[in-house]
Amino acid sequence: IIEQPRMSVIGTGYLGATHAICMATLGYDVVGVDVDENKVAALQSGRVPFFEPGLPELLRTALDSGRLRFTTDFADAAASADVHFICVGTPQAKDSPAADMQYVDAAVSRLAAHLDRPALIVGKSTVPIGTADRLTTLVQEIAPAGTAVQLAWNPEFLREGYAIQDTLRPDRLVFGVSSDWAREQLSRCYTALLAAEVPLVVTDLATAELVKVAANSFLATKISYINAMAEVCEATGADVSLLARALSYDSRIGGRFLKPGLGFGGGCLPKDIRAFAYRAEELGVGQAVAFLREVDSINVRRRHRTVDIVRDLVSGNLAGARIACLGAAFKPNSDDIRDAPALDVARMLQQEGASVTVFDPEAMDNARRAYPQLSYADNLVEAVLDADVVVLLTEWDEFTDANPEILGRLVSSRRIVDGRHALNADAYRSAGWEYRALGRPEHPATAVFLADEPLPVALSA
Ligand code: UDX
Repeated sequence: IIEQPRMSVIGTGYLGATHAICMATLGYDVVGVDVDENKVAALQSGRVPFFEPGLPELLRTALDSGRLRFTTDFADAAASADVHFICVGTPQAKDSPAADMQYVDAAVSRLAAHLDRPALIVGKSTVPIGTADRLTTLVQEIAPAGTAVQLAWNPEFLREGYAIQDTLRPDRLVFGVSSDWAREQLSRCYTALLAAEVPLVVTDLATAELVKVAANSFLATKISYINAMAEVCEATGADVSLLARALSYDSRIGGRFLKPGLGFGGGCLPKDIRAFAYRAEELGVGQAVAFLREVDSINVRRRHRTVDIVRDLVSGNLAGARIACLGAAFKPNSDDIRDAPALDVARMLQQEGASVTVFDPEAMDNARRAYPQLSYADNLVEAVLDADVVVLLTEWDEFTDANPEILGRLVSSRRIVDGRHALNADAYRSAGWEYRALGRPEHPATAVFLADEPLPVALSA
């Protein structure tokens, strides 16, 4: 039994880089592996190639300690580690809702070819159920050590923007294993977390794979649930902000992930629910999760509804209207624009002939690269100046902290759409703004909800 396992982390994207850096911080010897030479070079020189608060500092400390290094060489990884974490991406396939498994399969095959002694391969990526079983067969065929190489699944639940805290102090650990030996190895990888009494659930491989998609599906469903209520609110004059607030006091429901608005995006939730529904159909249990298609449609409808509200505000015709889009990232404190509702809305507004200017505090480079046809401003002031409508799409502090009175001096039209229920509606209305939000009445009977009033359970995720 290995006392202090040496680790490799294969795939140094968001998940892998964070995992490698955090494991080295916990005192393990870690080698990060990626096929992308630029990524490896950046990380090895102390630069994190994406935005994540606190991670660059931890990376530099880990590099200085000599416990962390990066390579493109799989033979090196096989030789210098006993436990290999697979952290490569499983994006949505180009031509179907299924997960594209080519990166996982390639990473595992390349590694296995060099495994000539007992080793544990630990999957962390979100994958279709049954993947660990399939990979076990693949690995044991390829690896010189044969059945002495085992597979385990250890799903990761980290949120962007909170990656370090979610990795070092997760809500729970899940070990999907098929032997005591594998369980023992994993326990040794997380000694400090287990000593700190992070709850541990040990499962079979399929359950561990399922935990991840089930958790993300639940979270997506919760968001779409409140957004479905927003649709009902719009038909009745009710206010979804107040509704969410009232629901959140019920401890069985809870306020987290109950924040209405433009809905979910990012590299996980949208593609995970689609891939899960697809995989469930393959397994003959499509009906059991058919509701996930509805969850997806509700979410997509929010983007169209946001465009409808903006169009309303310019008398039904977006052609030539100047629209300031605040936000591009799929959520604040991230530069990730994968399936970002913000950019989707900006693109739709532009398609209807609006002149759209986008500003985001961190995601500008990514947005420019992905949507070169949109116009971009260098700062908030430049973005909103003389806009016909300002649309808040990502609730960065810089936007929610803005003073409506001062902002109003730059925007004579004083029309704002709060796509994230993140602004103080009363403050905007008092400053003479026409304030609109999804699922909230245009002319409220009572002025009640204050964005900065503390909530019982954070409605802010
Ligand atoms: C998510 C899961 O939270 C994480 O456990 C999993 O491992 C990866 O996917 P992440 O993609 O970083 O993490 O984003 P998250 O913070 O969960 O937000 C997802 C999306 O939902 C964002 O677009 C956010 O704006 C939206 N959201 C969140 C809401 O619209 N309402 C809410 O109440 C909460």
